[in-house]
Amino acid sequence: MSIDERKIVAVSAPAHPLARLTAQEITAARALFEREGLIVESTRFPLLALEEPSKTEVLAFSPGDPVDRRVRAVLLDIATGRAHNVVASLTQASIQEVRELDPLVDGQPPILLEEFIAVDDIVKADEGWRHAMRRRGITDLDLVCPCPLSAGAFDIPGEEGRRLLRVLSFLQHRPSDHPWAHPIDGVVAYVDLISREVVELIDAALLPVPEEEGNFDDPDYVGPQRSTLKPIEISQPEGVSFEVDGDVVRWQNWAFRVGFEPREGLVLHQLTFRDGGRDRPVIYRASVAEMVVPYADPGPVRFWQNYFDAGEYLLGQQVNSLRLGCDCVGEIYYFDAVLADGDGHPRNVPQAICMHEEDVGVLWKHTDLFTQSEETRRQRRLVISFFVTVGNYDYGFYWYLYLDGKIELEVKSTGVLFTSAHAADGKWGTQVAPGLGAPLHQHLFNVRLDMMVDGLTNAVDELDLRRVPVGPDNPYGNAFAQTQTRLTSELEGSRVADPGVGRTWRVSNPEQLNRVGSPVAYVLRPQGLPTLLADDSSSIARRAAFATRHLWVTRYDPTQRYPAGDFVNQNPGGNGLPAWVTADRGIDGEDLVVWHTFGVTHVPRPEDWPVMPVDSCGFTLLPQGFFDRNPTLDVAPSSSPHCRGSGG
Ligand code: CO
Repeated sequence: MSIDERKIVAVSAPAHPLARLTAQEITAARALFEREGLIVESTRFPLLALEEPSKTEVLAFSPGDPVDRRVRAVLLDIATGRAHNVVASLTQASIQEVRELDPLVDGQPPILLEEFIAVDDIVKADEGWRHAMRRRGITDLDLVCPCPLSAGAFDIPGEEGRRLLRVLSFLQHRPSDHPWAHPIDGVVAYVDLISREVVELIDAALLPVPEEEGNFDDPDYVGPQRSTLKPIEISQPEGVSFEVDGDVVRWQNWAFRVGFEPREGLVLHQLTFRDGGRDRPVIYRASVAEMVVPYADPGPVRFWQNYFDAGEYLLGQQVNSLRLGCDCVGEIYYFDAVLADGDGHPRNVPQAICMHEEDVGVLWKHTDLFTQSEETRRQRRLVISFFVTVGNYDYGFYWYLYLDGKIELEVKSTGVLFTSAHAADGKWGTQVAPGLGAPLHQHLFNVRLDMMVDGLTNAVDELDLRRVPVGPDNPYGNAFAQTQTRLTSELEGSRVADPGVGRTWRVSNPEQLNRVGSPVAYVLRPQGLPTLLADDSSSIARRAAFATRHLWVTRYDPTQRYPAGDFVNQNPGGNGLPAWVTADRGIDGEDLVVWHTFGVTHVPRPEDWPVMPVDSCGFTLLPQGFFDRNPTLDVAPSSSPHCRGSGG
């Protein structure tokens, strides 16, 4: 193929260094790699993303300044298994870095969509696997759905250096029948994706395949639909209260830039709150940087089940196109997402990011005994969200910005349980339907909050509420106080929540004082649910060390982006946060990144079957002395002529 070199350099310069990668730039990157001889026919693109400039460069940028536009790609040769990490400048049309991955050290590039599909053919061609199916009376292999799952790293002899998936299978009664209802338990195939063969087959136990169907989308299964829900219409007759200029959003006092990339999905850049005539920075960059779903069943068929949905499967790549009226209700603004496919070509996902305003009840209210004043104001939030589907699960990530400066992230988990044949003792799971089990598991997320509370110089205090013993200062025993402990170094900065003492973490700027003389601050309120429950000696505790603590604080370093390290798939562990904090850099009055682990431990319920009602988790960032007083006194009382009441 001949390459038009002009095409490579003819990419128009973006208006801002954090502008999202365009389809034209993805095409130009691929052409550049091709010109430089980095691509052969069997080359695939597990990753192609914007290589963001450092914070220093971005903060120094003024409109009109030149931008050196860089990309990072992970190239995998599916014929040889060799993989390279490549960094290139599109502006200079040059390759800046090529590093071959060492599978024993780095592990493997993220999993490709085409590998999911390849697994189907590989296991069905394997005589041992076919025999295991025949042992279970399964002969129509067209109705078997092999489910490719990330392999983890378990030091199993013979696996060194191989690119692997582990495959559990499910049965359909017919092509429209949801296979999750019929796990073919007791059999797991370990598949080498490069040699395209089953390298090990575990055929552990003959368990009956659960028969009952779980077709929540089939009217015959569901029965008559209720007719008692009247429509709720949300209208904003005068339009929305936000403005969008490219990727920059302004809503009330908030401003930020929308980013979207293949690994983390939605990114909020340069989040500021306008106060006293200036845009005060709060967070420089916020994203869900990793998540892991470890399962509790220690048996030979499932001990390895641990999915890193960001590092192994790429959350952003799994993004849904959202549908108006179903996924998003009201006056919706959509952003498309532009991503690279497995061949390095651009693909557009329409309506990938949803943004809208929501009324969320009362903001503040008081009826005064003495003055007879009666005042109520309504709270509102701006919602910026996206939904992904990773196998059986669906996750919605919802950032909320409130009128009063509060920030929240809510993660909604839904979809279909990962099922098993229910074992007689039921120790590691719940029976959710006759004969159908669902193993215990956790969904643990890590959000990377590159904080910038009113500037780059930040510090973190741990705040606990403590009883005070009875004594001369506390004769009646009613005293309690908030203790403050400054986290001064990275090793001190890895902490666990303690709901019993109402533990929160305050991120303050010691150089900016509010009118009562305290450093301006935001406080992180964790939900304080369990961290990783696997044993400290387990493979997953090494690989997902970030999930063993609710809080980590590191000194900003532009290369430190992912809490479990750059490469997660089959990585032996120890990378990312646990490695970085051994430097034990000072974090008291520095440019800081706060990493927060949160999530739910899922004990499946019969009500979660055959499709799960949303379960939520997340955290809150609350201004604490960031403002001099309630910043919403200027919110006008609402007048809503379309609202009406009855009764009473
Ligand atoms: Co779950």
